[in-house]
Formats: sequence, C-alpha cells, structure tokens
Amino acid sequence: MRVRLVEVGPRDGLQNQAQRLSATQKIELIERLAQAGLDYVEAGSFVHPRWVPQMADSDQVLRSLSRRPGVTYAALVPNLKGFERALLSGATEVAVFAAASETFSQKNINCSISESLTRFEPVMAAAKTAGLPVRGYISCVLGCPYEGEVAPAQVHSLTEQLLAMGCREVSLGDTIGVGTAGHVDRLLSRLSQTVGPERLAVHMHDTYGQALSNIYASLDWGISVVDCAVAGLGGCPYAPGAAGNVATEDVVYMLDGLGIEHGVDLTQLVSIGEQVCAHLGRQNQSRVARALTSQAGRA
Ligand code: HMG
Ligand code: MG
Repeated sequence: MRVRLVEVGPRDGLQNQAQRLSATQKIELIERLAQAGLDYVEAGSFVHPRWVPQMADSDQVLRSLSRRPGVTYAALVPNLKGFERALLSGATEVAVFAAASETFSQKNINCSISESLTRFEPVMAAAKTAGLPVRGYISCVLGCPYEGEVAPAQVHSLTEQLLAMGCREVSLGDTIGVGTAGHVDRLLSRLSQTVGPERLAVHMHDTYGQALSNIYASLDWGISVVDCAVAGLGGCPYAPGAAGNVATEDVVYMLDGLGIEHGVDLTQLVSIGEQVCAHLGRQNQSRVARALTSQAGRA
C-alpha cells in the first residue's frame, strides 16, 4: 500500500499565523518540502487579501518557485477571480472549498452552501478549458464551531455534488478537530454507499488529539490520500478554537510503523519543521519532531 501525503503547511499552516513569513521564506519552505519527497504541496491561496492577509502574496510565491518535475503545486480558489489569479501564477492544480454547515459557509466564504456550488461552476468550466485538475474540500465534516453536530447525510450529498461537478477527489475536513475514530467510521460507512475511497482524502485538524487515530480509521476504509502540515501548523481564521493540522512528521512516522510507503524523508522534514517554527516564533506541534530533536540534543 502507498499513501499520498498532501502537504498543506504553506497554505493551511500559514493562513492563520500572527507572525507572517516573507515570500522568500515561503518559497524556501515549499521548495524544501518538495525536495523532502512531498509530491503534492498546497502552495497558497487566492482568496480575498482582506479576508486572509497572510496569503496576499500567493501570486508572487507561486510565480517565483523553482519547481521540481512531478510535483503538484496547488492553490485554494474560492471563485472565478481566484481561479484566474491561480492560473496566471502557474498553479498546477486548484482546490475549491465548501462546507457541510450553513453557518460556517457564511462565515468562511460569505455565501450559502448552494451559492458556493453555483460559484464553483464557472471555476470547474475554466479549469477544464485550462486542463487543470480540481480538488474539492468539505469543511466541518465531523462538527461545526457554530452548529455543533453535522449529519453524515449532509456530507454525503455534498461529496456527491462536488464529484458530479468534476472534482477529482474530495478532501473531508475535520476543521475544528473534534471528531473521533467512531465519527470517522459513521461518516465513511455512509459515504461508502456510493463513493469509492479512491475519490476521498482526509484532512484532520488535531484540536482534541484525535487526528492520527482518525487517519488510521480512514486507512481502514481504503482511503490513501492524507492531508497534513509540517510541524502541525494550521488553522482557519473563520473556525474559532481550531488547532493545527495533523503534523506531517507524525503521519510519516505512523506510516513507517505500518510499513506503508509514502516517499518522504523524515529527517529532512524535521529540519524543515524546526526552521519554519523558528521563523514563526512558535513551538513545533509535531510530537515526533520534538522527540527526535530532543534525542539529538542528548546524543
Ligand atoms: P465577498 O466579499 O463575498 O466577495 O468575499 P464578492 O464576490 O462580493 O467581491 C467583493 C470584492 O472582493 C470585489 O472587489 C471582488 O473583486 C473581490 P471590489 O469590486 O469590491 O473591489 N474579490 C477577490 N479579490 C481577490 N481574490 C479573490 C476575490 N474574490 C472576490 N478570489 C470571498 C467572498 C470568498 C472572496 C471571501 O469570503 C474570501 O476570500 N474568503 C476566504 C476565506 C478563507 O480563505 N478561509 C480559509 C480557507 S478554508 C480552510 O482553511 C478550510 C480547509 O483547510 C479545510 C478544513 O480544514 O476544513 C480548506
Ligand atoms: Mg484546514
């Protein structure tokens, strides 16, 4: 078995940080992640710069990257305007993002769920013309910061709609990191009625410390695409209380233990995580990185 890791650190990881990285620091981060073996890096986000100022320089970052062959440099786009900016900047894949909760949709992208799907239609058409694949995200699949519980049936219906519109795969986001393996089982049991695991990815934030076990449960359902962020960075400015994403280092360590291939060099990854945490002035959230760096200090 092989798992594809989708590195969202340069986007999800940085979009909510008080301390901003310069474009040069972001470029170095993305280039080092690709060098460490991550072949899918979400490099930025073409949302409104007033809504998420941390991503305002995504145009410059994507344009100035040294690219490695075989690596996808993706970007988040909320609408056609965002798509046009992503295309001009040389993104090689784009991601649209919807939510399974009406209130979160309003807070995050200023429209209802059904309006968001209408906004995605011209994006899907333009991406098809340009030959760019599109990924779909659904936020709040295991709970919403405003509405609480979210019904698996709601996530199921939205997943089917995004796939029918032409999304290559749908990434299921536990935006506020409240779900457990039991919630994952209930959701994937529902989705498996009509959606194959090869069309799904998981995107687990780690607020309640459940992300790794949620990913383990997802692997059991045949899902083989896992979103993660170096050093466990991450959060959404419109999801109060949400902690970072599962740390890429921790997922790599777990996959190694399971004998599942992933193609990523853990030593390089730990060094990248340490560097970005030093730039941001924050503690590394990866337990694996912390264990390995403290062992190195004792040696
Ligand atoms: P809006 O204000 O409703 O937009 O924002 P609008 O269409 O009414 O346009 C208003 C103005 O914004 C216009 O300018 C547009 O041109 C401009 P004006 O005519 O007034 O000068 N505009 C843009 N400018 C630049 N780039 C654009 C763009 N679109 C419109 N793309 C909008 C709607 C969606 C733009 C706004 O709500 C927004 O940017 N939201 C982004 C929120 C966000 O980035 N959240 C974090 C990412 S999602 C996430 O983290 C979850 C995820 O990780 C999965 C998980 O964990 O669950 C993916
Ligand atoms: Mg996220």
